[in-house]
Amino acid sequence: MRYVKAIKTSDLKSGQKMEVTIEGKDILLINIDNKFYATDSKCTHMGGELNKGRLEGSHIICPKHGSVFDVKTGKLIEQGKMFSIRVKAKDLNSYPVMLEGGDVFIGI
Ligand code: FES
Repeated sequence: MRYVKAIKTSDLKSGQKMEVTIEGKDILLINIDNKFYATDSKCTHMGGELNKGRLEGSHIICPKHGSVFDVKTGKLIEQGKMFSIRVKAKDLNSYPVMLEGGDVFIGI
């Protein structure tokens, strides 16, 4: 694994999220209380754009069918629903984050 510079720490305030593309991977970066976390930014169900989802604490809610993931770990917390039927999302990949010299690096 190697760490790739993604953004400056000042680019993302606490409580905010953004999508970055690192070496062809779309990654969701989140700042929670000035700690940074990185997961896949596409939902594991049908590719919902999690950067457009609602962030509640450390949980991100998929804007398509409502699956909930913990951005600190990538773990699926709750399956969403499609036509009242539970979908089958899986955990997201989560990536280590390192801060150095005012920059945010993601381990790929
Ligand atoms: S695409 Fe995310 S729950 Fe369906």
